[in-house]
This record gives sequence, C-alpha cells and structure tokens, in this order.
Amino acid sequence: MNLWLSGLKEAVPAEVKTPAELARFELSHVFPEKTVTLTEDPAMGEGYRIETMTDGSLHITGGRTGLLYGAYRLILDRLCREAVTVPAESFPKYGLRMINCWDNPDGSIERGYAGKSLFFKNGKLSPDPERIRELGRLLASVGLNVLCINNVNVHFPAQLLLEDDLPSLAALAEAFRPFGIRLMLSVDFSQPMRSGIPTADPLDPAVREWWKKTAARVWDALPDLAGFLVKADSEGRPGPFSYGRNHADGANMLAEAVEPYGGVIVWRCFVYNCRQDWRDTATDRPKAAWEHYAFLDGQFADNVILQVKHGPFDFQVREPLSPLLLGMKKTNLAMELQLAQEYTGHQIDLYTMIPMWKELYEELPEDNIMSLAAVSNLGDDTNYTGHPLAAVNLYTFGLLAWDPSADPETSVARWCRLTYGFASAEEKTLTKLLLSSRRIYEKYTAPLGIGWMVNPHEHYGPNPSGYEYDLWGTYHKADRNAVGIDRTEKGTGYLSQYPEEIRKKYEDPETCPDLYLLFYHRLPYTFRMRDGRTLIQRIYDDHFEGLEESRAMAEKLLALPFPEPDAGVIRERMEKQLYNAREWCDIINTFFHRLSGIPDEHGRKIYD
Ligand code: GCU
Repeated sequence: MNLWLSGLKEAVPAEVKTPAELARFELSHVFPEKTVTLTEDPAMGEGYRIETMTDGSLHITGGRTGLLYGAYRLILDRLCREAVTVPAESFPKYGLRMINCWDNPDGSIERGYAGKSLFFKNGKLSPDPERIRELGRLLASVGLNVLCINNVNVHFPAQLLLEDDLPSLAALAEAFRPFGIRLMLSVDFSQPMRSGIPTADPLDPAVREWWKKTAARVWDALPDLAGFLVKADSEGRPGPFSYGRNHADGANMLAEAVEPYGGVIVWRCFVYNCRQDWRDTATDRPKAAWEHYAFLDGQFADNVILQVKHGPFDFQVREPLSPLLLGMKKTNLAMELQLAQEYTGHQIDLYTMIPMWKELYEELPEDNIMSLAAVSNLGDDTNYTGHPLAAVNLYTFGLLAWDPSADPETSVARWCRLTYGFASAEEKTLTKLLLSSRRIYEKYTAPLGIGWMVNPHEHYGPNPSGYEYDLWGTYHKADRNAVGIDRTEKGTGYLSQYPEEIRKKYEDPETCPDLYLLFYHRLPYTFRMRDGRTLIQRIYDDHFEGLEESRAMAEKLLALPFPEPDAGVIRERMEKQLYNAREWCDIINTFFHRLSGIPDEHGRKIYD
C-alpha cells in the first residue's frame, strides 16, 4: 500500500543511505528508457533545476536534498501521465515543513484516527523499518522535511527519550535520513526536575546548565536533529509562568542550549485559561494568545519559532486567522494546521482541507510566516490515514508547505490520478466531491462560525450545549432570542487585535461575511441577512442542505470504481457519515427551534 505512490512498485531497499542514492534508485524505475543525470550543487540547498540536455536526456542540478525533490517532481509528473515540465526550477517557500505527531510511548495517539503509533509500542520506540521507509518516501515525495515524533503533551515515560532512548532515536533518525527528513522532539519544560534540580525556572543557572548538557548529549547522538517542540503553560503542561517568567524567558533559555548545534525551539502559542468559569463574561478565550505573546514581539532569539494555531480557538471548522499571525512582525512564526480530523469528522466524515487553507492565505501574507506545521493524521492502519481519502490532506499539505500558491483543484486532481488512476470523468467527479466536502461538513455542523457544538472531549457528533457550562471558554450563549458572542469593540474587544482593514471587514454585522457572523456577533434569530433570509432561516437551510448534499455526495462517491480494500472502507465510513450528518442536522435544527419557537419557512420536519 503506497497511497499516491502506488505507481512506484519497487520498495526502497535498506541499502539506500543518502538522498542522492534514493533519487537515483527512484528515477531508475520510472525513467528506465531515458537517462536522468544528477549534479549536486550544495549552494542550491533544497532547491533544484531540471533541464533537457542536447542529447535529449534530462538533468537535475540540486542541493543535497534538492536532487531528491527534483527527482520526485519528474517522477510525479510522469506517474500523472503529464508531460514532464522542463526547464523547471523550484525552491521551497518555507525551510521547515513539519509534521507533528501526537504519539505516546504506549502506542496510543492523541487525537489519532488511523490506528496506533508508527513509532512507539509498549513504552519504547519500536518502528517497523519497512513502514518507515514507505512513510519516508511519501513525505519526501511532497517535500516534507521535519517529523516531530512524540506528543506535545509529554507524559511519562516520553521524557526517557532524552535520557535512555538516544540510541533508538539515532537509529530512527538514520532511517529517515535518505528521505531528507529530520526528527524533532517534543520536550517537557520541567524535565530538569527529574534529575533532582528543585526547579525548572528558566533563569536559574542550574536549569540552564542542565539544558545545555542535555542538548550536547542529544545532538551528539542525533547530529541533524531539527530541534525541540514545546507546549508550555498550556492545558496543564509545566512552563515559565510557575516561576513568574514570561515565554520569551522560557523559549530563549532553551534556544541558547540548542543554538551551538543549529537546533531550533518551536514554541507553541496555544496558551489560554482552560479552567474558565462559564459565569465569567470578561474573559474571551480567543483573545488569550495575543495577550500572552504580542507584547513580546522582537524579544525571541533568532532560533525560536512561535508556532501559532491557524485560528484563535482550536481547529474548528471555521475560525478567522489568528491575529498573532498578522501582528508579530519581528518574530519567527510558524502556522499550525491540523490534518488529524479532531473537530472535522475523525477521518470518518470526508473533509478535504485545502479550500480552508487557501482561505487562510487570503488574509495571511505568505511572508509573515517562515514555516508551516501540521498535526499528523497518520497511524499504523495499512492505509496510514484511516479513511483512504484523508490522505489527500497529507499530500496537499506537503505541496502547500513547498509552495503556498499551489492550486487546490490541480493538486487534488493530481492526487486522485496518482492514487486511483481513474478515467478522466471519474477523476473529475472525485476531485469535485473532495473539494466540496469541507463546505458540506460545515453546513451540517455548528452554524456560521460558532463552533464547539460537539460531544465534549471526544469531539465527534453533535451536542449543542455540551461545552456551554464547562471550563474551556467555548460558549455560544444561545437563548430564546439570540445567539453568539459580540467580539467587536463594543463586546469583548477581540476584533481590536487585528489591523484596521480586517477589523472593518468583520465589525459590522450588516457587512460581515455570513460564514463568520456568529463568531464575531451576537444576533437575534430575526436578524435579516444580506440575502433577505433571517438568521434562523439560514441556520435551518444550511442544515437541511448539508444533509441533502452529503446524501448526494455519498451516491456519487459510492458509484466510483474504487479498488478493494479502499472501496469497502469508503463505503463503511460513508454510512457512518450519513448517520452523523442526519444527527447533526436534526439536533441543531431542533435545538434552535425549541429555543426560538420560530418555524421553518418551508415547513420541513423539525422535531419538537
Ligand atoms: C486540543 C486537543 C488536545 C491537544 C491540544 C493541543 O485542545 O483537544 O488533545 O493536546 O489541542 O493542541 O495542544
């Protein structure tokens, strides 16, 4: 099973040790009739140039890994049955194109929907070498180059990775090296305390010394380790706040320790009060990241990257772009996306993400960030992503991290062709279904940017008030007249964290784009929208449409000639999706109907 690389029939042998060897191996199987020659030019780094020589042969010039990326470019064009594009030159937009796995040593995966960990089992690193080569090939073929293998929530015994497990880590790093993939590790900010130091205060000399010695040991075993990923002061994780320090103090201390080895500290900005009292109306969770970080702009070391979730909440179906991604001009930033479908259907419901990512880029200038990261949707299921069609998200994420201007339709169509090799009409149908899947899911779940109406903790299936009186700061405050939270200056003031042109776009409910209405505003159900419908009617219509469209999608999808075992898995998951869509539609409509007492103008069935 090699997903979009099913056209590569020969497994990568263990003897292949470098990206150049891998490039030669791969090319020799796809271009046997024509020589493709390679010249390494270290100055080109990850970039490559492809030319036709006078004798008609192809030539790739590239840096150490650039050669490999150039080779995959030729190979994927050929497997797509497209004329190989020459001359071609390409350099990645972002230097670090990262996958963050939330894998635990016991083999479980936090928010994992595709089986168990590919790396850990029974408390130890114990990867299957063949699958690592298969995975490395998939990631390299779309240009991904950093893999953080352990959960950002570093629970014991994950700390042992930095202590006893260095030899196993070194072996894994070696296995990924031919694919141009470097490892990264999530670390526990309080780890020095395991060695008997009574504090983890980032300004304490003993703590600083401990991290320096640890970095020296770790990079000695793993000379090309990319760095450490840190979740601090977030959802119960230890961090600098316990010592009255800020996050620049914490991140810079670690940055100093890893700097001699070229390491980076990727510091997550997912910091908010996760013990909020629902009675407290002064706190508005989306404001939290800005309040914790914006004032520190310019104070982070050069080898610190702040990794910011794309929205101010937590990977909901629709959220505005996080204001931090627009505001911290003097700080290295990475945007964090989530391939794992935590709130977006658990890799049961179809949810192709590239349209959503493209919307983010409509407001995010490409140069505001220097790296792109995504929480992994991988696991040890034979097809790696649980739902065979969820692999499109991994593939397109790689393309986008290389070149954010990648076109959604072409990218998805190429994925379909590489994976299934359908005839043109079928490929068009599948591409269209995949590209429409996010909007359909959005229609039958929480309405108009409100989010969070899911079953608590599990995050699959509807539960309109599941989080309403909880500690997580995720309230919609629906009553008999109105729903939503006013986040303008007259309300919580969240919107004032944005530059003026964005504020203007959203601050007036009369002109705010419909799909963000209830994120930014509290509105009566009778509010008249620009198309003349009332707010409540729009909610009912979206839900009925979402259900109908998911049924129509199922019919078209299940008529496509997927091969087994994919056909069976797709059918089984689609049945679950249809059940889920109906539950969502009826429960959300009933919820709002019971509160508002307003009937559907079209007299469709809403339950009392
Ligand atoms: C969400 C998710 C957690 C995860 C957290 C994070 O809250 O539900 O499982 O740990 O995000 O991004 O750190």
